[in-house]
Amino acid sequence: MTTTDARPARTGLTFPPGFVWGSATAAYQIEGAANEDGRGPSIWDTFSRTPGKVYRGHTGDIACDHYHRYRDDVAMMADLGLASYRFSVAWPRIQPDGTGPVNHRGLDFYDRLVDELVGKGIDPVVTLYHWDLPQTFEDRGGWTNRETAEAFADYALAVHQRLGDRVATWTTLNEPWCSAFLGYSTGRHAPGRQEPAAAFAAAHHLNLAHGLAVAALRGAGARRLGVTLNLASVLPLDPASDADQAAVRLVDGLHNRIFLGPMLAGGYPADVLTHAARFGGTPWLRPGDEDLIGQPIDVLGVNYYSPTHVGARPGAPGRPGDYPGSEGVEFRAPVGPVTDMNWQIEPEALTALLLRVARDHPGLPLLITENGAAYPDGPGPDGRVADTERIAYLDGHLRACHDAIAQGVDLRGYHVWSLLDNYEWAEGYRKRFGIVHVDYRTQERTPKDSALWFRDVIARNGL
Ligand code: NOJ
Repeated sequence: MTTTDARPARTGLTFPPGFVWGSATAAYQIEGAANEDGRGPSIWDTFSRTPGKVYRGHTGDIACDHYHRYRDDVAMMADLGLASYRFSVAWPRIQPDGTGPVNHRGLDFYDRLVDELVGKGIDPVVTLYHWDLPQTFEDRGGWTNRETAEAFADYALAVHQRLGDRVATWTTLNEPWCSAFLGYSTGRHAPGRQEPAAAFAAAHHLNLAHGLAVAALRGAGARRLGVTLNLASVLPLDPASDADQAAVRLVDGLHNRIFLGPMLAGGYPADVLTHAARFGGTPWLRPGDEDLIGQPIDVLGVNYYSPTHVGARPGAPGRPGDYPGSEGVEFRAPVGPVTDMNWQIEPEALTALLLRVARDHPGLPLLITENGAAYPDGPGPDGRVADTERIAYLDGHLRACHDAIAQGVDLRGYHVWSLLDNYEWAEGYRKRFGIVHVDYRTQERTPKDSALWFRDVIARNGL
C-alpha cells in the first residue's frame, strides 16, 4: 500500500459519520510574540540561542506571527472546513517565572483564540505542554525535578479555569518521549542535556505530571482528557529471529511502554524498569506513583510519521542517545521513499500500530493528533504550491487509518501536522510541514494544493 507516486492509490473510501477532521500546531512553533504581554523565557528560548543547537540559530521569536494573526488563521481553517484545531498553550505565557501568580494577559490570548474558533464552529483541542518549559524550572533541574510535575498540575488547573467552559478536549503532554530523551539524553532538543539517567527521571516526572494533571482536571469537571504520545511502530528486520524480536522489545519498551505502561496498564513493565535501573537506579520512583500516573483517560492521542526497523547485530552502535543501553541494536537506514526529514514513508506501519494499541488497550478511543510530512515546497511561477508528494503521503496515511477502522479500531479523528509551515525545532524554519505555505519575510500564507485537497477530503468525509 506504500504510495510511491503522486497519484492517490484508490478512490471511494468513506470515514465513519462524525469522524473529526482537523489540523495541529504548537505554541513555540507558530506564535512568535516572544516578549509580549508578559511571556517569560522558556527552555527553547535559551536553547535556540545556544550556538550550534538549532539550524542557523533560528528562534521562535517571530515564527508565523500567529499571536497577531490568529484571526486570519482561524478564518483560513474555517475555509478549509476543519472541524477541530489542536494547539498548545505556552506555559511561560501563563506563569512567566514558572510558579506563582497567573499572568492574565497570557490567558487572554488563548481566550480570544478559543472564542474565535468556537465562533467559526471549530472545536478546540488543547495541549497543555508542547515542550516550552519555563526556564526557571530548568534552572532547578527541569523535568528531572519532581516539583516540575507538581507545578504542572497547578498550571493545568489555571488554564482549565479560564477555558474549560468552551474546551472539551484536553491533552496533558505532547510526545513526552521527545521531552525526556531528546531533551535530556541526546541533547538534540532543549534543554540539551546529555545524561541518560536524567532522561529516565524526566520520563517518570512527565508521567507523573500527566497523572496529576488528569486528576486535577477531572476534579475540576474537564470533559475529555488524554495525552499525546509519539508511539513508534517498531518492526523487526527478520520477524522469525528471536534476537531481532528482542531488539524490538527493547526499543518498544524505551519508546512506548515506558509511557503506555504506567499511564494505561497499571505500572512500568518489569523489563523497562530493570533497564532504566542500569542508569543510576530508580530513585525517582516512589510508592504510589504508578497509581497517580494511571488515572483513567478518555482518549489517547497518537502522533505518527515513520516506522523504526530494528534488528540485533553484535557490535552495532545502537542509538544510546535516543535509547540508552541500545548498543547491539541495528537501526536500519530508511529504505524506499523518504520525506525531507529523511523519514521512511510506510503507511501500513500506522495501521499496524493502531491495531496494536487497540488490542493492548481495549475500549480506549484513539485520535490521530499528528500526521504529516515535510517537503521543500514553495510557490511556483503561477503562485501555486503544487505539493503532490505531501498529498500522496496524506492520502496513504488516511487509507492506513481507514484500514485500521475497518479492522475494528475506534479511531475518532485525524489532525494533519501542520496547518502552517513553522519552526521545526532543531531544524529551524528549513523543514516545511504545513498544508499552508508561509513566506517568513512577509508572513503571507498560501494554501498549498494539499490544503485544497484536504478541504475536499473533509467535505466528502473520505477519499
Ligand atoms: C512532532 C511534534 O509534536 C511537532 O512539534 C513536530 O513539529 C512534528 N512532530 C514534526 O517533527
